[in-house]
Amino acid sequence: MTKIFIFIVESPEHYVEKKQFIENLKAKDEVQSIFLVKYIAQMEGKDGKSYINSILVDSTGEMEARKWQGAERIIQQIKTGDFVNIKGKMNLFQGRLQMIIEEMVLADREKINIDDFSAKAKEAPEKMMDELQSIVKNLDEVYIRELLLAILNDPEISRRLKVWQAGKSIHHAYKSGLLEHILSCTTLAVSLSAHYGVNTSYVVAGTILHDMCKIYELTEGPVVEYTEEGKLIGHLVKGLELVDHFSNKIKNFPNNQKMHIKHILLSHHGEYEYGSPKIPHTSEAYLVHLIDMMDSKMNAIQGVKEHDNNVGNWSGMVKHLDRTIYKKNLPSYKDFIAEDSDQSNIDKASPEKSVSLNQKTPVSKTNHEKPLKQNLGSLLKDFKVDEE
Ligand SMILES: [Fe+2]
Ligand SMILES: [Fe+2]
Repeated sequence: MTKIFIFIVESPEHYVEKKQFIENLKAKDEVQSIFLVKYIAQMEGKDGKSYINSILVDSTGEMEARKWQGAERIIQQIKTGDFVNIKGKMNLFQGRLQMIIEEMVLADREKINIDDFSAKAKEAPEKMMDELQSIVKNLDEVYIRELLLAILNDPEISRRLKVWQAGKSIHHAYKSGLLEHILSCTTLAVSLSAHYGVNTSYVVAGTILHDMCKIYELTEGPVVEYTEEGKLIGHLVKGLELVDHFSNKIKNFPNNQKMHIKHILLSHHGEYEYGSPKIPHTSEAYLVHLIDMMDSKMNAIQGVKEHDNNVGNWSGMVKHLDRTIYKKNLPSYKDFIAEDSDQSNIDKASPEKSVSLNQKTPVSKTNHEKPLKQNLGSLLKDFKVDEE
């Protein structure tokens, strides 16, 4: 018997095609495109005149944008979270790209393809969920394993986890960013708890649950705000409610285990001044705090490398990291050796052959027209290899 399936797909023609993306904009470019307003405010210049200061975003980054005329009118019409049609020009101001807006009008929300405006995690959320589940299924502690599976399998929690960002703007601030952060921390939890000989099940419980309640603390996005519950209760305390709610459904869940999981959640910000009502007092809690800090900082640095609008090798001052960031990748030997020169055959893993690097190996005549990009002899003059 032949079955006929009919799929109804929303026509892409329904959407307005977005032709310009932030990551490609350069100084002096004319801009005519739709952006999402992440921030907008009316400011007053030194001359007393009002102007609009805003941050516009799309799926590739964000851009500071200013409008010098009509600020009073614009601020009445446009608010954070609106999509706007922009006509303007890119400007380089003190080494930093910014947009000067000539026209700014509301765009038709019906014709917006939301994927053009929200960055997302590199991996598909379903795949990340599967990876998380398989780590949990391998845990030794049966009660902790059941608790985590019950939470991850809750339909509404699972739906939100696949979409939510981990924060408003500092780290993992993109679609499915929270899940990416949780999975990254949990992968580190497995290897580092084995390395330090601490209880993996607790550390994994900590990395999975520590920020889980950001699904209640923050709105869905793409422009994310704190919810009232987020402002009044927060994800640390809400995490304890979550543990109580789900552990109460598991028969004879040990109170002592629940207490230690709760301690990990309460202390994961590490210091009182960062919002932890308790500092970590167990190895497992301290490790969760360190993993969380490492993953959030490394992601924040990556975000600066990808999206900072300063021209050149260095970012501008990054407030939340309290430093500027060198944005280029560090040099590799590949930068100094032409790809098809004899030197590319050097076996990096072989000390014997590495010695030959130090012996100013002449470039073969056949490759004379494609010499080393830089003189290897001078580059490697301090390169020493212990000879046995
Ligand atoms: Fe947190
Ligand atoms: Fe976190």
